[in-house]
Amino acid sequence: MTIQIATIGIIGSGIMGTGITQIALQSGHQVYLYDAKAGAAQIASEKLQLTLQKLVEKNKITTESAQQALANLVVAQNLDDLKNCDLIIEAIVENLTVKQELIKQLETFIPETTIIASNTSSLSITAIASQSQHPERIAGYHFFNPVPLMKVIEVIPGIRTQPDIVRILVDLSYKMGHRPVVAKDTPGFIINHAGRAYGTESLKILNENVANIHEIDRILKHTLGFKMGPFELLDLTGLDVSHPVMESVYEQYYQEPRYRPNVLTKQMLVAKQLGRKTDQGFYSYTAGQKRDEQLAVKVDKLSQYPAVWIATDFTADRELLTHYLTTHQIEIDIQASPAKDSLILVASYGEDTSSSTQRLNLDATRTVSIDLINGLNTHRTLMPSLITQDKFSQAAHSIFNLDDGEVTQIQESVGFVAQRVIAMVVNLACDIAQQGVATVDDINAAVHLGLGYPHGPISWGDVLGPAKVLLILERMTQITADPRYRPSPWLQRRVKLNQPLTFTA
Ligand code: NAI
Repeated sequence: MTIQIATIGIIGSGIMGTGITQIALQSGHQVYLYDAKAGAAQIASEKLQLTLQKLVEKNKITTESAQQALANLVVAQNLDDLKNCDLIIEAIVENLTVKQELIKQLETFIPETTIIASNTSSLSITAIASQSQHPERIAGYHFFNPVPLMKVIEVIPGIRTQPDIVRILVDLSYKMGHRPVVAKDTPGFIINHAGRAYGTESLKILNENVANIHEIDRILKHTLGFKMGPFELLDLTGLDVSHPVMESVYEQYYQEPRYRPNVLTKQMLVAKQLGRKTDQGFYSYTAGQKRDEQLAVKVDKLSQYPAVWIATDFTADRELLTHYLTTHQIEIDIQASPAKDSLILVASYGEDTSSSTQRLNLDATRTVSIDLINGLNTHRTLMPSLITQDKFSQAAHSIFNLDDGEVTQIQESVGFVAQRVIAMVVNLACDIAQQGVATVDDINAAVHLGLGYPHGPISWGDVLGPAKVLLILERMTQITADPRYRPSPWLQRRVKLNQPLTFTA
């Protein structure tokens, strides 16, 4: 099929329809914008006028291009004004029956060649197309909010969609300056599926009383480089949106433990503590500003430090710790087993401190574990055991404050905070690749652009080391017996064959 997309019909002039109209106009297309609510499309067109005017004032676009874009916009009074469009994108209410009815109505007057695309974020494309006379011309075309800034579009063929339709929508995405990613018609597609790990694992950590919200947000932002902490993000999105999505993906995957939601958000939802929109979520807000910021605690320099005996899973971690301690004139206990007054420092993966001391036969009253998943550059998480003496935890805290580095002490947790969250993110992305929901390149691009993670999740696994990620998951599975952490076969196979996670045959 060779269809040149010149004229686009957009149905629904809400937040998404207006955003899609903007990028379609700015890339030279003619747009017919229709909304069932009288006057809504006209209001959207006036908003667009203001948006483009602001872009001109900021020198982002020229006056001529703004005028040209607006000249190409037609506010449709009736649905059948869209009869000559090459492509019709619906961005109406998220309701399967209403979307199916709309398609039936469109099919009474559009030609067989018109492509119909749905911006649904949670409904099955196959289901949306199931009542149509021509399901082969229907596909998902999932934009993200705000559309002009979120430079990614998921293109989703339903079971009966013709491959040509996918190609046409992919080409159009590039024309509109967005990166297309092709996803199978599965719950959450790529981005809302891959995004399940960050929030749910952080909630589980909070629920286990490992650390408080400030600490978990800080650790994840400062150790791993997430732009927003999970609780900041949940507050921004609003639990009225996020909690149902968590439940829906979990149920749609037949209660797969990897997506398990948490009682914490269910309760907050019932109590209407939704986040920023109600001034109270995980944090409290006044006029949009967080009220209760807690900074990392700092421990002063001590007059004397114990010698430090080191145990690590990886040689590079031993070298890193040795270098740091030597630089700060801390004595290193290099005996085969720790002397009786030494602080025992364990750089462990996927374990709590109790498990490490048992595995290595160490004195738990003197042991503190450290998370080196991202080295020592940014933030340090320390984890004393249940019975570590205060003087040893304080000494460890002070040692890792010596260069003004930020330290957070947490309660015992298998895999600290950063390790278990990133291992879940990588593992879930590997499973998405294993299921063939999308290519590795598309999974990486989709998550990087759609969720703003510093790396694509599969590439991120390669940056951290696939063997390390696997070790975290294996130990967590062994200690917790929770199938949530079972390593994806995609990940296991590549570690066994010593290949990067991005390797595809
Ligand atoms: P919205 O509520 O801002 O706008 C929906 C518009 O559709 C309203 O103006 C309404 O009058 C109109 N409408 C409703 N039923 C209609 C019908 N039968 N015919 C014509 N117009 C109709 O909604 P929003 O947020 O723009 O979402 C639209 C779609 O995009 C939904 O399917 C949603 O799931 C999806 N989506 C939303 C995202 C978001 O962040 N808001 C992100 C990605 C997808």
